[in-house]
Amino acid sequence: MKGVILAAGKGTRLYPVTRVIPKPLLPIANRMTLEYAFDQLKGCGISEVCIVVGENEAQIKEALGGGGAFGLKLAYVRQTEPKGLAHAVGFAKDFVAGDDFVLYLGDAIYDQSLKPHVDRFREARCANLNLVKPVDDPRRFGVANVEGERIVKLVEKPAEPESNLAMAGMYVFGPQIWDVLPGLQPSLRGEYEITDAIQTLIDRGETVLAGVYEGQWFDTGTLDSFLETTRFLTQGACLVGEGATVNGPMGDAVVIGPGAVVNVSGGIEDSVVLPGARVEIGGSLRHAVVGGDCKRATSVENSVIYGDLNE
Ligand code: TTP
Repeated sequence: MKGVILAAGKGTRLYPVTRVIPKPLLPIANRMTLEYAFDQLKGCGISEVCIVVGENEAQIKEALGGGGAFGLKLAYVRQTEPKGLAHAVGFAKDFVAGDDFVLYLGDAIYDQSLKPHVDRFREARCANLNLVKPVDDPRRFGVANVEGERIVKLVEKPAEPESNLAMAGMYVFGPQIWDVLPGLQPSLRGEYEITDAIQTLIDRGETVLAGVYEGQWFDTGTLDSFLETTRFLTQGACLVGEGATVNGPMGDAVVIGPGAVVNVSGGIEDSVVLPGARVEIGGSLRHAVVGGDCKRATSVENSVIYGDLNE
């Protein structure tokens, strides 16, 4: 069993921070986002992992290298353009070399081990198992219609969902996936969708299973979800990295990166200051992610900012 992590997106919803630091490397509770993925894959007994990178290739390789520092053997492939998850995974075919593999979205974080689901895939000898999570409003997700443990149909963002099981960002595949990728057509939004690949497996009569995940699942891709993940992992506490200094009242759920210098007269809460940032704010800092050299005369709220960069 191998691991493939998709990390080639542009991260536009966290611009301008992700113009400087790729989303997979952003610190969450002062660990790189991908370190949480590494822990999960190692927990599933996987030691060989391929990271699908994009324009962020050089920065990601420099930060992660051969993977020894994380107890893994890392390889990299480059997706030419971010044209969808099914497009991205295609670049990992030579690395996977006919093996089974876990496909993991680089911005997903789970608080429970995924190992039981990988074990179930192995035991069932099926073509594919997908993590699904019961959610209150499935309409913004890919939704799995199931009969028992089997997925019989996938529907992307259904107006009237027939099930409450959302596709939850982790997939286990056997080699059957390579037969269906070449026949895929782009969806209405112009991407090669992993849900279309899985639907094709189902249509061909392959066994496709749902692994119901009841734990917490976070996607770090927006300001709100990034801060929600941070709050969960810090349990609402303040974390101040090595060599950082903070002047100003500290509220809850604050993470200050190593080496950052922060002067916020009106106080700081529910925010992340990136490593090495210089932040001077003549007011308060709330619900924000801040990096670079940032001087602002008044309060900053609900914002992603990096120095003087525009979105
Ligand atoms: P998304 O969050 O859908 O895309 P993104 O990371 O580019 O962010 P944004 O929408 O804010 O621009 O992607 C989910 C994960 O999949 C993320 O880890 C990046 C990865 N990905 C690829 O590797 N290749 C792709 O073609 C796409 C669409 C995503």
